[in-house]
Amino acid sequence: MNRRNFLKSAALAAAATTATAMETTTGLQIPEETPDKSDKPLIDSAPMLQNYAETSMGIAFSVSKLANGFVDYSENADMSGSKRVMCGGFRLTDVNEDVMRVRLTGLKPATKYYYRIGAQHIEYIDYRHNSLKETMIDPNIYSFTTAGKKAKAHFCVINDTHVQWPAIAACTDKIAALQPSCVIWNGDANNSTDTVEQQKKIFLQPEMDRRDYAANIPYLFAPGNHDDRGIANWHLERVWMYRQPEERSSRDWDLGRNFAVRMGDIAMIGLDTAEDKVDTNPRMMGMHTSQPYREAQKLWLEDALKAPEIASAPFIVAFCHIPLFDPNPRSNPGDIMPDDKDERYSTDFAAWQRTCARLWGPALEKAGCQLIITAHQHCFRYDEPSKEHKWAQIVGGGPRLYGPKNGGKHVDFPTVIEGKVENKQLKIIVHNVSTNSVIAEYLYKARKV
Ligand SMILES: [Fe+2]
Ligand SMILES: [Fe+2]
Repeated sequence: MNRRNFLKSAALAAAATTATAMETTTGLQIPEETPDKSDKPLIDSAPMLQNYAETSMGIAFSVSKLANGFVDYSENADMSGSKRVMCGGFRLTDVNEDVMRVRLTGLKPATKYYYRIGAQHIEYIDYRHNSLKETMIDPNIYSFTTAGKKAKAHFCVINDTHVQWPAIAACTDKIAALQPSCVIWNGDANNSTDTVEQQKKIFLQPEMDRRDYAANIPYLFAPGNHDDRGIANWHLERVWMYRQPEERSSRDWDLGRNFAVRMGDIAMIGLDTAEDKVDTNPRMMGMHTSQPYREAQKLWLEDALKAPEIASAPFIVAFCHIPLFDPNPRSNPGDIMPDDKDERYSTDFAAWQRTCARLWGPALEKAGCQLIITAHQHCFRYDEPSKEHKWAQIVGGGPRLYGPKNGGKHVDFPTVIEGKVENKQLKIIVHNVSTNSVIAEYLYKARKV
């Protein structure tokens, strides 16, 4: 079999496996009494837990028709005493035909909750002639545990998955084996995404067996430069909702992607380095406002680091997509005006982000941040603390499970970067999921607080 035919056969086999897995791993069923004859169930994905936090949780799932979604949740495994929360916010629910987004609020920190998802199909003709159709409730009971000082300090990071299913499947298999409290998706989940259907595929309907990969482990999102590319991604919040507004001051109302979350002894800080080209680059057509966005995040960061639950954490770890340092003088620092081009640098886009380093670095250093976990370069690297920066930096790997070898070495293998607190130290373990092996380990001492 030549390579092309092999890939085609492998894709067909994967599709067949996926269809079976959809039935077996999520157990989704349409109730018997439903008159609906369409081939897709009303709920056509597992739920995804979004925006891990102390007192709230976002839950998103896909629907195949116009629907009104809800989540029932309870502290009891048998769902006794459950409460129902509808999708959307006040006044009207968020009835739509793509994604149900439900926000649970007022939760207790470091507390386990059980939940199930449901939706009701609404046939809309005009405002006088609508009818309620089938209601579907996913029979599975899922669970999550909120963040907080008493939560288990254990995270995993994936990055630069770029819709490469073999890599994503391998990463999520590793995460399922490690069972962290949360996962940080450190950007470039997308390539360029033009339809909501494609967005749903990336986050809610992945082409792999483990379609419920985020149903019981909550995710956080630090977007990459590819995550606002493509017309659908101008509103990625339709699929991955913004964080809760009460997490930040009114000045920062628009910073819906930043996070400062306490998980056990670790404070996790999420920053968005935005595009890898300057706003004035003609290729960006004047559509990007990365510079004021980064400046606004500086003010947010300074305040976030002063919050008592963050300032008292023994470990501060920051996450952002584009690195804040690069030891190679040929690496483009992302501030070359007006169009990123300069013969001193090997690329005409940012390999690292000098602007962000200058804006955010001092506050992170002052707070005692020990480690920044980044991505973007598709090649794992570790930068020790130095005179220029007191924090260490890890650059996560790339999207190719079986990538070409550079000088005999496969360099863009995917990584799962695991962090946990053991014996009062922060232990970082870097897993190469291509070889299913540990390739590096680092230990960090607690800050004096
Ligand atoms: Fe990337
Ligand atoms: Fe990137």
